[in-house]
Amino acid sequence: MPLIEVEGVSHTYAGRRRPVLHDITVRLDEHRIGVIGANGSGKSTFARLLNGLILPDHGSVRIAGHDTRRDGKRVRQLVGFCFTDPDAQIVMPTVAEDVAFSLRRRDLRGTALRARVAETLARFGLAEHADHPAHLLSGGQKQLLALASVLVTEPALVVMDEPTTLLDLRNARQIMTLVAGLGEQVVLLTHHLDLLAGFDRVLVFEEGRIVADAPPDQAIDRYQQLMRTGG
Ligand SMILES: Nc1ncnc2c1ncn2[C@@H]1O[C@H](COP(=O)(O)OP(=O)(O)OP(=O)(O)O)[C@@H](O)[C@H]1O
Ligand SMILES: [Mg+2]
Repeated sequence: MPLIEVEGVSHTYAGRRRPVLHDITVRLDEHRIGVIGANGSGKSTFARLLNGLILPDHGSVRIAGHDTRRDGKRVRQLVGFCFTDPDAQIVMPTVAEDVAFSLRRRDLRGTALRARVAETLARFGLAEHADHPAHLLSGGQKQLLALASVLVTEPALVVMDEPTTLLDLRNARQIMTLVAGLGEQVVLLTHHLDLLAGFDRVLVFEEGRIVADAPPDQAIDRYQQLMRTGG
């Protein structure tokens, strides 16, 4: 697994006075890493630091030794990012075109490209939708397409920011079964605590700090305690 090294990271959004992350230091190299915490606690900001979508004001973020500030291009090749809302990520008119678009910088053309797209759509249960307009897919299917379009580029690390929030239970399970089978390292942000069963490590964010870093059961206990008492 690539090593994620976050060192002394603070972040304040432009135009805001208060930092949303305070001096975060963490090293992660587990296969399955969960991130939980209250609304506004800094989870998505943390996630966006991992692929260089956000650069830290202070401190550094390195993925497999590549600094997000100095080596952003390499970092974006290594880290795939799935947004909560798949519509934010689907860019092409049809399902197959969207997956093919992700491969535009690869040396894949014609039959080889079509084969790769077909194989990916089959893996994500979308084969029969290949030529359908992407915007007409159901929410769960869109989420699967977004995941397919990210994974087809073979990132070493997949960061998923609440990929199941908009889904019903069945579609959420389908996504998570798929995620469970991935060889890639996964950082999953979620409010669905049951999705973290079997994870190696879970970080709990509170007001821009990591207040627990533990196996799922312990981390979830701490989070639930925070939600009950506010401290
Ligand atoms: N682009 C932005 N500009 C200014 N402030 C922002 C921006 N994005 C987030 N914030 C603020 O930063 C803080 C942390 O937000 P973040 O999205 O990281 O929280 P979160 O833990 O992901 O919350 P949620 O569970 O609601 O998704 C919040 O107070 C939010 O208002
Ligand atoms: Mg968020």
